[in-house]
Amino acid sequence: MTRTLTITSPIDGSVVGTVPRRTARDVRTAYSRLAKAQREFASAPLAERLRVTKLLATTLLENRKKLADLLVREIGKTPAEADTEVIRTADIVTGTIREAKRQRPEVIKDAGNPKRRQEVGRMPLGVVLAISPFNYPINLAITKLAPALAAGNAVLWKPSTQGSVVATRFAQGLYAAGFPRQLLAVITGSGSELGEALVTDPQCGMVSMTGSTETGQWIAGRTGAIPLFLELGGNDPAIVLADADLDLAAKHIVGGAFKLAGQRCTAVKRVYVVRSVADRLVRKIDAEVAKLGPAGDPREHPIGPLVDDSAARRQRRLIADARKRGAKVIRGGTVHGRYVEPTLLDKVPQRAAVVREEQFGPVLPVIRVKDADEAVRLANDTEYGLQASVFSRNAKRARAVADRIDAGGVHLNGPDQRGPDNFLFTGHKGSGLGAQGIRFALESMSKPKTTVTNR
Ligand code: G3H
Repeated sequence: MTRTLTITSPIDGSVVGTVPRRTARDVRTAYSRLAKAQREFASAPLAERLRVTKLLATTLLENRKKLADLLVREIGKTPAEADTEVIRTADIVTGTIREAKRQRPEVIKDAGNPKRRQEVGRMPLGVVLAISPFNYPINLAITKLAPALAAGNAVLWKPSTQGSVVATRFAQGLYAAGFPRQLLAVITGSGSELGEALVTDPQCGMVSMTGSTETGQWIAGRTGAIPLFLELGGNDPAIVLADADLDLAAKHIVGGAFKLAGQRCTAVKRVYVVRSVADRLVRKIDAEVAKLGPAGDPREHPIGPLVDDSAARRQRRLIADARKRGAKVIRGGTVHGRYVEPTLLDKVPQRAAVVREEQFGPVLPVIRVKDADEAVRLANDTEYGLQASVFSRNAKRARAVADRIDAGGVHLNGPDQRGPDNFLFTGHKGSGLGAQGIRFALESMSKPKTTVTNR
């Protein structure tokens, strides 16, 4: 008898669905089947690979409402966030297909021999293991599936436990639309039971994972010499200089910090503001946070629940620690079950846990600094390096600050974010390895293969 996992909604604890609780043996069987099918798919013409890839977009669009409703119930997204996830993902598939059609082998000439030239083509990697997180269960899976398939790979998809109902429903829709089952397997179950088998199987050609820094580092320590893409945690600082447009900064900081109740790797997680404008900025941020209203059912409130009880308990601990260290609670500060009131903390010291750790919740600390130099020093004082933002009316000054921040990307006068999805997105330090973005993901899911012509 197949063991199952019951997935409940963070909104009210009601049952969203059940999924199989697979074993390490199931993982090995899935790899063998996928590897066999991939060997044939590797030599299929590009048109066939792209026909298969396109079914991802068709299935998303045909099931738009059903998938979005599930994202609301299973993850606690607002209906607008859920719908955007589905549509954005279909666009990524279309963009991937367009990019794959554009790719041509590169020709390199031998400078010493005009008759000799090298053609650099691409080959698939085999079976790609795609590990997707709870916060974008569809989007951050298909950003892996689409380039993997277009490049001629098969995929073993391990969704996060919360998010595995929507993943299995999507896969069912895909198979019903005629997608070849032998090229994609969804393996649901407990990460701690399956992790070892998933990342150490000799038939695993690549691991593409989005999730926590802790899990990413564990994976990097377990796999052999195979390509890895890791999109991990972030502790993104927003730096506000004395000459910033404070209305603009407040609007983008709040949008960046509280969307999806702060459960985004790219959320603004710390604000460093120059003292001379700190009072005014805090008032403006507070006014923006007030517009969000109280946390509640995401079908009626912009701030929904956190994914589980322990995520909410973490916010409680971080708020209490900041208070103990002298921070002032400007707004919010309370937690009811999985619901955390949008919280603004001022005069937070750098050593507070809410500054040191990735909160992944709707809690925003403001740290007051003397000048840009102190802001840069404190912004870089972290194990993470995903993104950052800098607000200043002086473009040159903003750029100079951005250049000193050790992060994969810096936004000037705008919020941190991964998209648009053709942009390169990467993390430094504990925030990851490799790059995504349509073209970059396609390249990362294949390996170069050269042919040298001698006459
Ligand atoms: O949570 C990590 C995601 O890559 C963030 O994506 O910036 O589009 O919300 P986003």
